[in-house]
Amino acid sequence: MNKTRVTYDDQIVRWFMTASIGWGLVGMLVGVLVALQLAFWQVNIPPFLNFGRLRPLHTNAVIFAFVGNMMFAGVYYSTQRLMKARMGSDLLSKIHFWGWQLIIVAAAITLPLGFTQGKEYAELEWPIDLAITLVWVVFAVNFFWTLAKRNEKHLYVALWFYIATIITIAVLHIVNSLELPVGPFKSYSIWGGVQDALVQWWYGHNAVAFFLTTPMLGIMYYFVPKAAERPVYSYRLSVIHFWSLVFLYIWAGPHHLLYTALPDWAQTLGMIFSVMLWAPSWGGMINGLLTLRGGWEKLRNDPVLKFFAASVTFYGMSTFEGPLLSVKSVNGRAHYSGWIIGHVHSGALGWNGFLAAGMFYWLAPRLWGTKKLHSVSAANWHFYLGTFGILLYMTSMWVGGITQGLMWRAPSPTRGPSSTRASSRRSWRFGPCTTRASSAARST
Ligand code: HEM
Ligand code: HEM
Repeated sequence: MNKTRVTYDDQIVRWFMTASIGWGLVGMLVGVLVALQLAFWQVNIPPFLNFGRLRPLHTNAVIFAFVGNMMFAGVYYSTQRLMKARMGSDLLSKIHFWGWQLIIVAAAITLPLGFTQGKEYAELEWPIDLAITLVWVVFAVNFFWTLAKRNEKHLYVALWFYIATIITIAVLHIVNSLELPVGPFKSYSIWGGVQDALVQWWYGHNAVAFFLTTPMLGIMYYFVPKAAERPVYSYRLSVIHFWSLVFLYIWAGPHHLLYTALPDWAQTLGMIFSVMLWAPSWGGMINGLLTLRGGWEKLRNDPVLKFFAASVTFYGMSTFEGPLLSVKSVNGRAHYSGWIIGHVHSGALGWNGFLAAGMFYWLAPRLWGTKKLHSVSAANWHFYLGTFGILLYMTSMWVGGITQGLMWRAPSPTRGPSSTRASSRRSWRFGPCTTRASSAARST
């Protein structure tokens, strides 16, 4: 091994972390605003500040700005230490940082103005799509450059998760964004009809898998053992976790298209792969939680470990709920209902948000050289309020969403629940409208 002393670039980690906290605040405030708009129509201010324009602003801000910047902070910090090398190029790191922030600003301007491709999580118009590709390539070059000049031969499992993230997100983004520009802010996708839907949800689902999950798992495998001051429970399990997860995730997209025009066999395939995903997901959760074994005393006093333990538990909860939601009969009740929103936020706020909080509380004293947190009790308050809020969000969405699904299926004087497969599919898809239409007919 090269014995020369390596100085790491922590400036870039500080930048990404600060950006994540700043954008996180904005994105979640917009989340509160869109929630208010759902409850009180008066809060919609047409046309720029309508629910339809602000909802994608919320999703883009929290996924790509809050979780994205947090992911880059975690990747830049841990990669340098795991490879015992400074990043390949400080200049590329800076281009990555400023390029990404510019993309976020472009999204924050164009979405309220109504420029959108109408594809969920891929709304941004073609010039921004091009910019995303360029910045991602810069990130990839920088990462693989560091890999090439590393001073540590062994590639720890966290790095495998980062490699999978970098490669897969590039492929997903490029294939789903293939489009024909017809103006500076208008383009048409080259995909059409059911192929468009399939490519979109192959992308959409794997945005969850490879943006909101695999990099988070890399971060979990690096930061949880660091904070617990003990090695990962089972390295062998982490390797099995990695290969089974990346192999299964990529096939599960059709669970977003159950009961649509997508061929039935493809829907069933998506459902089966999703149910199988339960095993590696729980293998990873158990590995993360057992890494904390014997450290329960520390867990009581250390907010970082509290956030990590809760985050991994939320990972387990959302990856139990996800396979359940993929089962066709369950999905028939859950799709279009608030239950899905509850599922989304147990993963996004519980798993991603709490992992971010744990990582930031662990990193801040180290990055700014303050030795300890400004206030441990404020961090504890953050933890208990956050846990209470997320649990309230999830449970209210379960109650509301399941009731919604059941009411849509409820018999009505003009249309009872159907028994045949085809008509039950129809009654599910058109259920809400027919129920509404028939109740309107009843009242006239
Ligand atoms: C204060 C925290 C948050 C609040 C109040 C909030 C609120 C909301 C609301 C009201 C919606 C629209 C629901 C609907 O259309 O019925 C939504 C959607 C969504 N939010 Fe959040 N959110 C928060 C945090 C987050 C975070 C941190 C993430 C991701 C990291 C996230 C990801 C999403 C996604 C992906 C959707 C779209 C879900 C779908 O289409 O099924 N949210 N959020
Ligand atoms: C084994 C893991 C998982 C499986 C099999 C799974 C499955 C599902 C299913 C079946 C849906 C509903 C599709 C629909 O009816 O529209 C869904 C929605 C969603 N899930 Fe998961 N999920 C998993 C884990 C997660 C995690 C960990 C997160 C977040 C970090 C997450 C984020 C989302 C989002 C954002 C949506 C809404 C997509 C939309 O806009 O419609 N999922 N998931």
